[in-house]
Amino acid sequence: MTDALLVDTDTDTEPADARRTAAATWWRQAAVYQIYPRSFADADGDGLGDLPGIRSRVDYLADLGIDAVWLSPFYPSALADGGYDVADYRDVDPRLGTLEDFDELIAALHERGIRVIVDIVPNHTSDLHEWFQEALAAGRGSSARDRYVFREGKGASGEEPPTDWESVFGGPAWERVEDGQWYFHNFATEQPDLNWDHPEVREDFLKTLRFWSDRGVDGFRIDVAHMLTKDLTEPLPSRAELELMPQDGTHPLLDRDDVHEVYAEWRRVFEEYDPPRTAVAEAWVGSPERRAKYASAEGLGQAFNFDLLEADFDAAEFRTVITDNLAQAAGTGSSTTWVLSNHDVTRHATRYGLPPLAGRPVKQGTEWVAAGGPEGDIDRDRGLRRARAATLLLLGLPGSTYLYQGEELGLQEVAAITAEQRQDPAFFRGGEYDGLGRDGCRVPLPWSADRPAFGFGGAVAHLPQPAWFAEYAVDVEAADPNSTLSLYREALRLRRLLQTEERLEWIETGRPDVVRFVRPNGWQVLTNFGTEPFPLEAEHDAVVLGSLQAGAVPGESTVWTMPDVLSE
Ligand code: GLC
Repeated sequence: MTDALLVDTDTDTEPADARRTAAATWWRQAAVYQIYPRSFADADGDGLGDLPGIRSRVDYLADLGIDAVWLSPFYPSALADGGYDVADYRDVDPRLGTLEDFDELIAALHERGIRVIVDIVPNHTSDLHEWFQEALAAGRGSSARDRYVFREGKGASGEEPPTDWESVFGGPAWERVEDGQWYFHNFATEQPDLNWDHPEVREDFLKTLRFWSDRGVDGFRIDVAHMLTKDLTEPLPSRAELELMPQDGTHPLLDRDDVHEVYAEWRRVFEEYDPPRTAVAEAWVGSPERRAKYASAEGLGQAFNFDLLEADFDAAEFRTVITDNLAQAAGTGSSTTWVLSNHDVTRHATRYGLPPLAGRPVKQGTEWVAAGGPEGDIDRDRGLRRARAATLLLLGLPGSTYLYQGEELGLQEVAAITAEQRQDPAFFRGGEYDGLGRDGCRVPLPWSADRPAFGFGGAVAHLPQPAWFAEYAVDVEAADPNSTLSLYREALRLRRLLQTEERLEWIETGRPDVVRFVRPNGWQVLTNFGTEPFPLEAEHDAVVLGSLQAGAVPGESTVWTMPDVLSE
């Protein structure tokens, strides 16, 4: 199968081979923009973002200058986990549109040269998925139950769960059904885990991958890719025993070696297409070596590196993470991925305004801002300054960069959401994403300062937008050449012109708080993580872009330089 050619510049004169290689490797240094569809744009005004809403903003995406969008789940879902509880993998949630809307969206994006990645959630389904409903009806011992993980409970009449395991979102990982059996769920109760030993489960996901590939999807983001396969041979270990078990490929629940048999099969499907479909694994694993397995060319091909998302705004930490990840990517033949924000973490403009090390998930109760520190301790100006600097550094690195909707506006995390308004199961179950959970980064985007719901769509948005969203609205920022939106647009435009081989060399700066590197074509990135300005030698360094406007390189800022000023 061959796709209609994506819009590309000057490819007519390129030999066919080169064109094919370029088409097959587009992802290696792509800037990918993550859309959380329910919070992006709402065309029908019901308060929930939808596919026609995204379509109405295709010009915005094209002007931003990204290479691809990744759409978080838009499938039918009861929204027990923001759409990551999928009731049907091959359809569109009627509140978000139809399959025809999807086809129109993808056509509109392709027309503008923007590729499309969709989210695949293979570890668990929604409890409303027809398979789970069938499993409940069919009863114990049935093949339908065997598609999931059902077990008898412990105690005289099986009234206790099979183990004391906890779900990622907190609370027990087992739920009892009417006839007394228990099912296993790594995440929310409404997200029963699938049994990946069942041939029908494997077959069905191949069908799903083909379904979306046939519709022209260019790639897939694989949700918790390290969790699918399990060894649930009795006797099952206790939680304490589980925690002591090494994650070396033999752990009963996490990052098992046998999960790569699944991805080897998926790879064969990806290669049925021209260009081959791509994939990126969300795999929270113990070591770079373990991550490399997901990124192999025989597997998913790329894996998220979340190391910078977990790092402080610190020169030494950034430099180590960058060096290690580039070495690791070179070892697998893949390219690395840079991420500062996504739908699961506190926005980086807020994280960087918190005291050091506070940006990580910590148990602090609900008066704390999501995964951070007390709201009063946030220095938002500093957070934004650092966020701009870090993003500009990221966009200069070899490899692909994943941007999360709203970060191009410098948007801050929203803390002021009442318990009644919150949606994230992690908030209610008090699990790994502690503090206020993840709703604060999922608040619908502000498009216009003066319209109802800041131009999101109708009169309301499904999560409350604070009054200060007006300052960050797209129409306000588009009119301001110094806004974060203008910075992203310019950075992404220049990045296309400057992009070069996937290598860098560090340049010593004589300052522990300043990092500087050069790409093979002379493109340099210099980030001052400190607060003292760093002087530039004007005769050598033509600044082509800076995260702050100034002569030298002010504290907490990044500049890009080229030996010769670009004439464009
Ligand atoms: C991934 C998603 C997260 C979701 C979880 C369960 O980590 O990014 O949003 O809650 O998987 O599907």
